Amino acid sequence: MNIQKEKTNELTNIKNVIAIMSGKGGVGKSSVTSLIAVSLKNKGYKVGILDADITGPSIPKVFGINKKRASSIEDGIIPVKTATGIEVMSINLLIEQEDSPVVWRGPLVANTVKQFYTDVIWGDLDYLLIDLPPGTGDVPLTIMQSLPVDGIIVVSSP
Ligand SMILES: Nc1ncnc2c1ncn2[C@@H]1O[C@H](COP(=O)(O)OP(=O)(O)OP(=O)(O)O)[C@@H](O)[C@H]1O
Ligand SMILES: [Mg+2]
Repeated sequence: MNIQKEKTNELTNIKNVIAIMSGKGGVGKSSVTSLIAVSLKNKGYKVGILDADITGPSIPKVFGINKKRASSIEDGIIPVKTATGIEVMSINLLIEQEDSPVVWRGPLVANTVKQFYTDVIWGDLDYLLIDLPPGTGDVPLTIMQSLPVDGIIVVSSP
């Protein structure tokens, strides 16, 4: 099956897309994603995190940017930078109140995640880490099928 991969905008150039996934929930995906982001950043790479967990976003809270809001210009959405310069995009940074529930059907959720790849002005990145929701639902399937994923990390419980 040959599925067309999504492309980023003209202001973005991403060298490696890495998805962090798991079969079960609560095994440490978001923690692992954040720790890898910080260690890559410390090594001098340009890093971004795409929080693909739309109904349970946790990346903004990890980095203490959950009170900030992403802004949008004509060319796309500008992600929020952490104190150490990691670019973050999450539904949490778009909704008016960070604790509002996101009660959306699968296709809408999957489209939002795709837009986080295509419409966010990530700029030049060495690594884009994608923090996935658990399991094999709409979002992990959409990411694997429609984004040019270079590698995956599967987090499991012992
Ligand atoms: N290696 C670890 N050792 C101990 N506790 C951990 C470890 N990794 C994560 N935790 C704790 O487990 C909980 C879940 O972690 P995390 O949010 O990273 O999991 P997740 O897989 O992203 O969850 P979700 O499926 O809800 O997105 C958190 O309270 C976190 O502090
Ligand atoms: Mg998580």
